[in-house]
Amino acid sequence: MTAKVCVVYHSGYGHTAKQAEAVADGAGQVDGAAVTSVSVSDLEDAESDAWSQLDEADALIFGCPTYMGSVSAEMKKFMEASSGRWMEHKWADKLAAGFTNSGSQNGDKQNTLVSIATFAAQHGMVWINLNLMPGNNNSNGSVDDLNRLGSFMGAMAQSNIDEGPDVVPPAADLETARKLGERVALCAKRWA
Ligand SMILES: Cc1cc2nc3c(=O)[nH]c(=O)nc-3n(C[C@H](O)[C@H](O)[C@H](O)COP(=O)(O)O)c2cc1C
Repeated sequence: MTAKVCVVYHSGYGHTAKQAEAVADGAGQVDGAAVTSVSVSDLEDAESDAWSQLDEADALIFGCPTYMGSVSAEMKKFMEASSGRWMEHKWADKLAAGFTNSGSQNGDKQNTLVSIATFAAQHGMVWINLNLMPGNNNSNGSVDDLNRLGSFMGAMAQSNIDEGPDVVPPAADLETARKLGERVALCAKRWA
């Protein structure tokens, strides 16, 4: 059976878009997974066909940059625009997961993931965590480790603010994002 995974993301300057691509890439590596990606800018029109990609998916993976310690305004706008779906319980029992990227090592990214998880809970969705051991947390660790930022809720990435999306987020964070996509696709196959 095909499991449909849809990555729903916002990126102001392209860094989180790189992370979103890696999430989709990881999900797409799973045999039997059909993956789509939708930018929230394509969801501004309530009548847009892009909404149907979310409605039809078995799993939705939400991601955005951390701006001012929380989800970006564009992501929040999408969240509020989804209230019609909430009224209909349309996304209940779909799987959900999240990712975020920010300039600082910490940067309050956890708050963004908690906001996304809360949003998913409001829709009655089932949260899938990252399930990777934290990296770079011992004397043999390195910034090249998978899950170097040590997140459990979802995938985190960090992009130096003076570098472009051609350089950051670094490979370790993109690989961590791929792992999230892969995990969600595998879970979606079991769930479907
Ligand atoms: C309005 C704004 C607010 C930001 N707030 C934070 C923040 O709270 N924490 C942080 O670490 N970085 C913050 N940053 C940095 C971004 O998270 C970082 O540059 C990220 O890579 C941007 O991703 P994007 O290119 O996908 O928009 C902020 C950037 C902007 C433009």
